[in-house]
Amino acid sequence: MRIGVMTSGGDCPGLNAVIRSVVHRAVDVHGDEVIGIEDGYLGLIEQRARPLGHDDVTGLLTRGGTVLGSSRVEHHRIHQAVDRAAELAAGLGIDALIAIGGDGTFTAARMFCEAGLPVVGVPKTIDNDVSATDVSFGFDTAVSVATEAVDRLKTTAESHQRVMVVEVMGREAGWIALEAGMAGGAHAILLPEKPFDIEAVCVMIEERFARRKKFAIVVVAEGAQPAPGTLRLDPGRVDQYGHRRFGGLGTRLAVELEHWLGKEARPVILGHTQRGGPPTARDRVLASRFGWHAVEAVHKGAFGWFTALRGTLVELATLSDAVAAPNTVPLHRMLEAEAVL
Ligand code: F6P
Repeated sequence: MRIGVMTSGGDCPGLNAVIRSVVHRAVDVHGDEVIGIEDGYLGLIEQRARPLGHDDVTGLLTRGGTVLGSSRVEHHRIHQAVDRAAELAAGLGIDALIAIGGDGTFTAARMFCEAGLPVVGVPKTIDNDVSATDVSFGFDTAVSVATEAVDRLKTTAESHQRVMVVEVMGREAGWIALEAGMAGGAHAILLPEKPFDIEAVCVMIEERFARRKKFAIVVVAEGAQPAPGTLRLDPGRVDQYGHRRFGGLGTRLAVELEHWLGKEARPVILGHTQRGGPPTARDRVLASRFGWHAVEAVHKGAFGWFTALRGTLVELATLSDAVAAPNTVPLHRMLEAEAVL
């Protein structure tokens, strides 16, 4: 078989490990040819691809980013390309495509599949917002980067008796904020899943300083929302897709907290540091397992499905399940069970 592989959407640590694993499994075990499509759907549309063999994937297990490149493509271009799905596959001479991406990639993958380009998905996202899998690779690395940042910020915050507002990624889902905040021992964690009241945050920090504590750490997800009626913040910058962009909320929160508390507050926007660099051991393992299972799925003809971690096993779930709803339900359940919500 000739299998295309591509990485699409925002990059994340572990993408290269999947590519390596796909090449090893497909070439060594099945005698397939693997074609690496450049820059995600853009490369598919523009028919840019190159053969991938063992030499091309040497050293990729530990390397961050994606050697194939990635892109986000506007909806109208995807729709136009879907109409030419079979022609695009024939142009590259591929029998099937392994699409490594998040919810946007999977939404497009479903359409390509229905239009005659057989696709198997592999879920990637640092935000952990793909549903129907317990976790996506990239998330563990992002949490460990953010946790290390919180650890480091504590000592400087204490030296200057400051409030540090650490903004982490997570537009729809607060997984990074929740886990990095818990692991780092943050004093407030603000999530998209639970609207926050800035006055309650102020009260909590005041009580902490009254107990002679010398600093406070607030971890906030970029997509956290103030509770209705408590808004003193403007809604921030919105990008061309209508998404609120990272980098705004943390800064505005620090300004507000400094104003209302009368204490120095500093924003720290972790931004793309959470997406760069080598994957953690856990992400290397998960990415490698997903690559292995994706090749097996192609050989079983499981098109329209993606590799999903369920407990300790990698299984298959439908691309529709992945995009049916954001992966915030398990987070809600966890918070409810632990009486946080
Ligand atoms: O989708 C993952 C994500 O990391 C979001 O948390 C963040 O808002 C976005 O990507 C940033 O995207 P870009 O790299 O296009 O600025």
